[in-house]
Amino acid sequence: MRIHVADHPLIAHKLTTLRDERTDSPTFRRLADELVALLAYEATRDVRVEPVTVRTPVAEAEGVRLASPKPLVVPILRAGLGMLEGFMRLMPTAEVGFLGMVRNEETLEAATYAERLPEDLSGRQCYVLDPMLATGGTLAAAIRFLTDRGADHITAICLLSAPEGCERLERDLDGIGVPVSVVTAGMDERLNEKGYIVPGLGDAGDRLYG
Ligand code: PRP
Repeated sequence: MRIHVADHPLIAHKLTTLRDERTDSPTFRRLADELVALLAYEATRDVRVEPVTVRTPVAEAEGVRLASPKPLVVPILRAGLGMLEGFMRLMPTAEVGFLGMVRNEETLEAATYAERLPEDLSGRQCYVLDPMLATGGTLAAAIRFLTDRGADHITAICLLSAPEGCERLERDLDGIGVPVSVVTAGMDERLNEKGYIVPGLGDAGDRLYG
């Protein structure tokens, strides 16, 4: 598994404002959206393309276009929904699927309560959107869901991550046989006893949607 912490002053600037407890919901939503667009640029570096020739007003030019089948983007409800628009602005032709998952705040285990995905994901590149990678339970389950349906390349975009979650992902996805990457704006220190990222930014779902 590849973990890429995006190192860019604009990303760090937006993330710092997201963390600030004085940032209100409308500003938080706008910043999350802007941050995702920057992360998506990094995360789509290895999106599959195929060669194409176009005619410019002057001559023929060799170029590329997105290969078929088109990538699938999967926001994890609820908080991942706040990342969808920012991603789609970069890749408007991606197909969208939904996974609804919630973490039990006592056991910290993730449960799936909704799913709207193509049955067959053979040969598909998938982009998973979830703002927080805390214990890693939610993301590990989401990735398993997609690879069980045949997805053969997974990239997760997370605003913030914890080392414990990354370790769990490595463990849970060991031998999955599919390349998995995580692109994140920040790797924080640790989790607290409630499974919150420290220093983190609080509960992303609540800060986005109240
Ligand atoms: C939060 C967050 C992630 C998950 C991360 O969602 O948005 O999906 O927890 O935790 P984990 O890495 O420990 O599994 P939450 O369950 O609060 O649901 P919400 O998005 O509906 O607020």
